[in-house]
Amino acid sequence: MNWRLKICDYHQLLFPQHHSYILFEGDSIYQHLSVKYQPQINFLGMFSNDKFMAGCNTKTKLPWNSPFFLVDFYLKQPKKFLFLGGGPCCAPTALWKRDNDRSISIDIVEQDPLVLELAAKFFNLPKDRRINIHHTQAQQFLIQNKKKYDAIFFDLGFTYERRNDKKYSFCAQKFTLKQLKKALTPQGIIIYVVIARRQCHQKQFLCELYQQFKKFFNYCELYSDEPQNHKKIQSHVFILNQKNMQNNKPFTKLSKTDDHWSNLYQELKGKQMNASVLT
Ligand SMILES: C[S@@+](CC[C@H](N)C(=O)[O-])C[C@H]1O[C@@H](n2cnc3c(N)ncnc32)[C@H](O)[C@@H]1O
Repeated sequence: MNWRLKICDYHQLLFPQHHSYILFEGDSIYQHLSVKYQPQINFLGMFSNDKFMAGCNTKTKLPWNSPFFLVDFYLKQPKKFLFLGGGPCCAPTALWKRDNDRSISIDIVEQDPLVLELAAKFFNLPKDRRINIHHTQAQQFLIQNKKKYDAIFFDLGFTYERRNDKKYSFCAQKFTLKQLKKALTPQGIIIYVVIARRQCHQKQFLCELYQQFKKFFNYCELYSDEPQNHKKIQSHVFILNQKNMQNNKPFTKLSKTDDHWSNLYQELKGKQMNASVLT
Protein backbone atom coordinates (compact mmCIF):
# COMPACT_ATOMS: atom_id res chain seq x y z
CA MET A 1 0.00 0.00 0.00
CA ASN A 2 1.29 3.42 -0.92
CA TRP A 3 1.00 5.54 2.23
CA ARG A 4 1.77 9.20 1.97
CA LEU A 5 2.12 11.55 4.85
CA LYS A 6 0.38 14.76 3.99
CA ILE A 7 -1.32 17.53 5.85
CA CYS A 8 -4.70 18.07 4.34
CA ASP A 9 -6.39 21.45 4.61
CA TYR A 10 -9.92 20.52 5.47
CA HIS A 11 -8.95 17.89 7.97
CA GLN A 12 -6.52 20.28 9.57
CA LEU A 13 -9.54 22.37 10.52
CA LEU A 14 -11.08 19.45 12.38
CA PHE A 15 -8.01 18.05 14.08
CA PRO A 16 -5.28 20.66 13.58
CA GLN A 17 -2.69 18.97 15.73
CA HIS A 18 -2.65 15.67 13.85
CA HIS A 19 -1.16 14.49 10.60
CA SER A 20 -3.21 12.55 8.11
CA TYR A 21 -2.03 9.58 6.14
CA ILE A 22 -3.70 9.58 2.75
CA LEU A 23 -4.46 5.94 2.01
CA PHE A 24 -6.26 6.65 -1.23
CA GLU A 25 -6.94 9.59 -3.47
CA GLY A 26 -8.67 9.53 -6.86
CA ASP A 27 -11.68 10.48 -8.96
CA SER A 28 -14.87 8.58 -9.60
CA ILE A 29 -17.47 9.73 -12.13
CA TYR A 30 -19.29 11.44 -9.25
CA GLN A 31 -16.65 12.96 -7.00
CA HIS A 32 -13.05 13.32 -5.90
CA LEU A 33 -12.58 10.69 -3.20
CA SER A 34 -9.98 10.19 -0.52
CA VAL A 35 -9.46 7.94 2.48
CA LYS A 36 -7.50 9.41 5.37
CA TYR A 37 -6.09 7.91 8.52
CA GLN A 38 -5.08 9.74 11.69
CA PRO A 39 -3.40 7.17 13.97
CA GLN A 40 -3.14 9.50 16.98
CA ILE A 41 -6.89 9.62 17.34
CA ASN A 42 -7.73 6.27 15.68
CA PHE A 43 -9.64 8.03 12.94
CA LEU A 44 -10.27 6.57 9.51
CA GLY A 45 -12.47 8.62 7.22
CA MET A 46 -13.73 8.91 3.67
CA PHE A 47 -13.80 12.35 2.07
CA SER A 48 -15.72 13.60 -0.94
CA ASN A 49 -14.25 16.65 -2.68
CA ASP A 50 -12.13 17.09 0.46
CA LYS A 51 -15.19 17.29 2.72
CA PHE A 52 -15.71 14.72 5.44
CA MET A 53 -18.27 12.11 4.38
CA ALA A 54 -18.16 9.46 7.13
CA GLY A 55 -15.66 7.35 8.99
CA CYS A 56 -14.95 5.15 11.96
CA ASN A 57 -12.80 4.74 15.03
CA THR A 58 -10.22 2.11 14.13
CA LYS A 59 -10.03 0.87 17.71
CA THR A 60 -13.69 0.59 18.66
CA LYS A 61 -14.74 0.02 15.02
CA LEU A 62 -17.73 2.23 15.74
CA PRO A 63 -18.82 4.80 13.17
CA TRP A 64 -17.57 8.30 13.80
CA ASN A 65 -20.50 10.39 15.01
CA SER A 66 -23.14 8.26 13.38
CA PRO A 67 -26.71 8.85 14.51
CA PHE A 68 -27.77 5.46 13.24
CA PHE A 69 -27.89 3.90 16.70
CA LEU A 70 -30.78 6.20 17.58
CA VAL A 71 -32.79 3.31 16.22
CA ASP A 72 -32.28 1.62 19.60
CA PHE A 73 -34.29 4.34 21.34
CA TYR A 74 -37.37 3.45 19.33
CA LEU A 75 -37.35 -0.18 18.26
CA LYS A 76 -36.77 -3.36 20.22
CA GLN A 77 -35.57 -5.80 17.61
CA PRO A 78 -35.51 -4.19 14.20
CA LYS A 79 -34.71 -6.66 11.46
CA LYS A 80 -34.90 -4.97 8.10
CA PHE A 81 -32.64 -2.00 7.45
CA LEU A 82 -32.23 0.28 4.46
CA PHE A 83 -29.27 2.64 4.06
CA LEU A 84 -29.78 5.27 1.38
CA GLY A 85 -26.22 6.49 0.80
CA GLY A 86 -23.57 3.92 1.59
CA GLY A 87 -20.35 5.92 1.80
CA PRO A 88 -17.77 3.88 3.74
CA CYS A 89 -20.72 1.89 5.12
CA CYS A 90 -19.43 2.23 8.68
CA ALA A 91 -22.92 2.23 10.21
CA PRO A 92 -24.25 -0.83 8.36
CA THR A 93 -20.99 -2.69 9.01
CA ALA A 94 -21.12 -1.96 12.75
CA LEU A 95 -24.76 -2.95 12.87
CA TRP A 96 -24.08 -6.20 11.02
CA LYS A 97 -21.29 -7.05 13.48
CA ARG A 98 -23.43 -6.21 16.47
CA ASP A 99 -26.55 -8.07 15.41
CA ASN A 100 -24.78 -10.91 13.67
CA ASP A 101 -26.67 -13.47 15.71
CA ARG A 102 -30.04 -12.29 14.52
CA SER A 103 -31.83 -12.79 11.25
CA ILE A 104 -31.34 -9.25 10.00
CA SER A 105 -31.18 -7.97 6.45
CA ILE A 106 -29.43 -4.80 5.35
CA ASP A 107 -29.96 -3.11 1.98
CA ILE A 108 -27.39 -0.48 1.01
CA VAL A 109 -28.06 1.89 -1.88
CA GLU A 110 -25.01 3.72 -3.23
CA GLN A 111 -24.69 5.32 -6.66
CA ASP A 112 -20.89 5.47 -6.76
CA PRO A 113 -19.18 2.09 -7.37
CA LEU A 114 -15.77 3.44 -6.34
CA VAL A 115 -17.15 4.43 -2.93
CA LEU A 116 -18.21 0.82 -2.35
CA GLU A 117 -14.86 -0.51 -3.53
CA LEU A 118 -13.17 1.72 -0.96
CA ALA A 119 -15.68 0.67 1.71
CA ALA A 120 -14.69 -2.96 1.14
CA LYS A 121 -10.95 -2.28 0.92
CA PHE A 122 -10.44 0.12 3.82
CA PHE A 123 -13.56 -0.08 6.02
CA ASN A 124 -14.15 -3.86 6.10
CA LEU A 125 -17.58 -3.83 4.52
CA PRO A 126 -18.36 -7.56 4.77
CA LYS A 127 -19.51 -9.81 1.95
CA ASP A 128 -22.46 -11.60 3.42
CA ARG A 129 -25.85 -12.79 2.24
CA ARG A 130 -27.53 -10.51 4.79
CA ILE A 131 -26.01 -7.42 3.16
CA ASN A 132 -27.46 -6.51 -0.23
CA ILE A 133 -25.72 -3.83 -2.22
CA HIS A 134 -27.67 -1.84 -4.80
CA HIS A 135 -25.54 0.14 -7.24
CA THR A 136 -28.15 2.68 -8.11
CA GLN A 137 -29.55 6.07 -7.23
CA ALA A 138 -31.69 6.36 -4.14
CA GLN A 139 -34.57 7.96 -6.06
CA GLN A 140 -34.55 5.12 -8.59
CA PHE A 141 -34.38 2.50 -5.87
CA LEU A 142 -37.35 3.99 -4.02
CA ILE A 143 -39.53 3.99 -7.16
CA GLN A 144 -38.90 0.30 -7.76
CA ASN A 145 -38.84 -0.84 -4.15
CA LYS A 146 -41.58 -3.11 -2.85
CA LYS A 147 -39.97 -4.05 0.46
CA LYS A 148 -40.84 -2.69 3.91
CA TYR A 149 -38.17 -1.67 6.40
CA ASP A 150 -38.05 -1.26 10.17
CA ALA A 151 -35.41 1.44 9.86
CA ILE A 152 -34.40 3.60 6.93
CA PHE A 153 -31.24 5.67 7.20
CA PHE A 154 -31.46 8.58 4.77
CA ASP A 155 -27.91 9.92 4.56
CA LEU A 156 -27.05 11.21 1.11
CA GLY A 157 -25.03 14.23 2.12
CA PHE A 158 -28.05 16.55 1.81
CA THR A 159 -26.96 20.05 2.89
CA TYR A 160 -28.29 23.59 2.88
CA GLU A 161 -25.88 24.44 0.05
CA ARG A 162 -27.18 21.55 -2.05
CA ARG A 163 -30.89 22.21 -1.50
CA ASN A 164 -31.40 23.57 -5.04
CA ASP A 165 -28.91 21.27 -6.72
CA LYS A 166 -30.74 19.05 -9.23
CA LYS A 167 -29.05 15.97 -7.80
CA TYR A 168 -30.40 16.65 -4.30
CA SER A 169 -33.66 18.55 -4.77
CA PHE A 170 -35.58 15.24 -4.78
CA CYS A 171 -34.58 14.69 -1.12
CA ALA A 172 -37.32 16.91 0.28
CA GLN A 173 -39.90 16.46 -2.46
CA LYS A 174 -43.38 15.14 -1.68
CA PHE A 175 -42.91 12.22 -4.01
CA THR A 176 -39.78 11.05 -2.18
CA LEU A 177 -41.39 11.39 1.24
CA LYS A 178 -44.37 9.38 0.04
CA GLN A 179 -42.04 6.65 -1.25
CA LEU A 180 -40.16 6.62 2.03
CA LYS A 181 -43.39 6.34 3.99
CA LYS A 182 -44.55 3.49 1.79
CA ALA A 183 -41.32 1.63 2.48
CA LEU A 184 -41.86 1.60 6.27
CA THR A 185 -43.30 -1.16 8.43
CA PRO A 186 -46.06 0.20 10.73
CA GLN A 187 -43.60 0.74 13.60
CA GLY A 188 -40.71 1.62 11.30
CA ILE A 189 -38.65 4.80 11.59
CA ILE A 190 -36.66 6.97 9.21
CA ILE A 191 -33.44 8.52 10.43
CA TYR A 192 -33.07 11.49 8.10
CA VAL A 193 -29.77 13.38 8.14
CA VAL A 194 -29.40 16.94 6.91
CA ILE A 195 -26.47 19.32 7.29
CA ALA A 196 -27.26 22.98 7.91
CA ARG A 197 -26.78 25.58 10.60
CA ARG A 198 -29.67 26.66 12.78
CA GLN A 199 -29.22 30.31 11.87
CA CYS A 200 -30.81 32.86 9.51
CA HIS A 201 -31.57 31.47 6.03
CA GLN A 202 -30.38 28.04 6.94
CA LYS A 203 -32.80 27.90 9.84
CA GLN A 204 -35.57 28.88 7.45
CA PHE A 205 -34.60 25.96 5.24
CA LEU A 206 -34.73 23.59 8.25
CA CYS A 207 -38.13 24.98 9.29
CA GLU A 208 -39.54 24.35 5.83
CA LEU A 209 -38.15 20.85 5.81
CA TYR A 210 -39.70 20.17 9.20
CA GLN A 211 -43.09 21.48 8.03
CA GLN A 212 -42.85 19.27 4.97
CA PHE A 213 -42.09 16.20 7.12
CA LYS A 214 -45.05 16.92 9.36
CA LYS A 215 -47.39 16.64 6.38
CA PHE A 216 -46.40 13.02 5.89
CA PHE A 217 -45.38 11.70 9.29
CA ASN A 218 -47.27 11.92 12.58
CA TYR A 219 -44.12 11.78 14.60
CA CYS A 220 -41.12 14.00 13.93
CA GLU A 221 -38.36 14.37 16.45
CA LEU A 222 -35.11 16.31 16.22
CA TYR A 223 -31.56 15.48 17.29
CA SER A 224 -29.10 18.19 16.61
CA ASP A 225 -25.52 19.33 17.16
CA GLU A 226 -25.34 22.57 19.11
CA PRO A 227 -24.23 25.46 16.92
CA GLN A 228 -20.62 26.27 17.68
CA ASN A 229 -18.81 29.16 16.16
CA HIS A 230 -15.63 27.31 15.36
CA LYS A 231 -17.52 24.41 13.78
CA LYS A 232 -18.28 24.78 10.12
CA ILE A 233 -20.95 22.13 10.04
CA GLN A 234 -23.95 21.31 12.12
CA SER A 235 -25.98 18.21 11.51
CA HIS A 236 -29.63 17.62 12.21
CA VAL A 237 -31.28 14.28 12.42
CA PHE A 238 -35.01 13.90 12.10
CA ILE A 239 -36.73 10.79 13.32
CA LEU A 240 -39.86 10.21 11.30
CA ASN A 241 -42.57 7.70 12.03
CA GLN A 242 -46.19 7.12 11.12
CA LYS A 243 -47.41 6.78 14.70
CA ASN A 244 -46.80 8.69 17.86
CA MET A 245 -43.92 6.97 19.57
CA GLN A 246 -42.31 6.74 22.92
CA ASN A 247 -38.66 7.54 23.03
CA ASN A 248 -37.23 5.09 25.53
CA LYS A 249 -33.99 4.23 27.11
CA PRO A 250 -32.11 2.29 24.48
CA PHE A 251 -33.76 -1.10 24.16
CA THR A 252 -30.48 -2.86 23.72
CA LYS A 253 -26.92 -2.70 24.95
CA LEU A 254 -27.06 0.04 27.58
CA SER A 255 -27.67 -2.50 30.31
CA LYS A 256 -24.43 -4.22 29.34
CA THR A 257 -21.33 -2.71 30.89
CA ASP A 258 -19.87 -1.82 27.57
CA ASP A 259 -18.55 1.73 27.69
CA HIS A 260 -18.48 2.19 23.95
CA TRP A 261 -22.19 1.70 23.67
CA SER A 262 -23.25 3.60 26.76
CA ASN A 263 -21.10 6.58 25.74
CA LEU A 264 -22.57 6.45 22.29
CA TYR A 265 -26.13 6.52 23.61
CA GLN A 266 -25.38 9.32 26.07
CA GLU A 267 -23.91 11.37 23.25
CA LEU A 268 -26.96 10.75 21.09
CA LYS A 269 -29.35 11.54 23.93
CA GLY A 270 -27.46 14.79 24.51
CA LYS A 271 -28.37 15.87 21.01
CA GLN A 272 -32.09 15.50 21.50
CA MET A 273 -33.97 18.76 21.08
CA ASN A 274 -37.47 19.94 21.08
CA ALA A 275 -38.42 20.20 17.42
CA SER A 276 -40.17 23.48 18.21
CA VAL A 277 -36.73 25.17 18.00
CA LEU A 278 -37.47 25.03 14.30
CA THR A 279 -40.77 26.86 14.36
C1 LIG B 1 -22.65 10.76 4.00
S1 LIG B 1 -22.30 9.43 2.93
C2 LIG B 1 -23.11 8.07 3.71
C3 LIG B 1 -22.37 7.54 4.96
C4 LIG B 1 -22.89 6.21 5.49
N1 LIG B 1 -24.22 6.38 6.00
C5 LIG B 1 -22.01 5.51 6.53
O1 LIG B 1 -22.56 4.95 7.48
O2 LIG B 1 -20.79 5.42 6.40
C6 LIG B 1 -23.29 9.83 1.53
C7 LIG B 1 -23.18 8.87 0.34
O3 LIG B 1 -24.35 9.00 -0.46
C8 LIG B 1 -24.01 8.80 -1.82
N2 LIG B 1 -25.08 9.44 -2.62
C9 LIG B 1 -25.31 10.78 -2.80
N3 LIG B 1 -26.41 10.95 -3.55
C10 LIG B 1 -26.90 9.71 -3.83
C11 LIG B 1 -28.04 9.25 -4.54
N4 LIG B 1 -28.90 10.09 -5.13
N5 LIG B 1 -28.25 7.91 -4.64
C12 LIG B 1 -27.39 7.03 -4.04
N6 LIG B 1 -26.29 7.42 -3.36
C13 LIG B 1 -26.05 8.74 -3.24
C14 LIG B 1 -22.65 9.45 -1.96
O4 LIG B 1 -21.94 8.90 -3.06
C15 LIG B 1 -22.00 9.11 -0.61
O5 LIG B 1 -21.24 7.95 -0.70
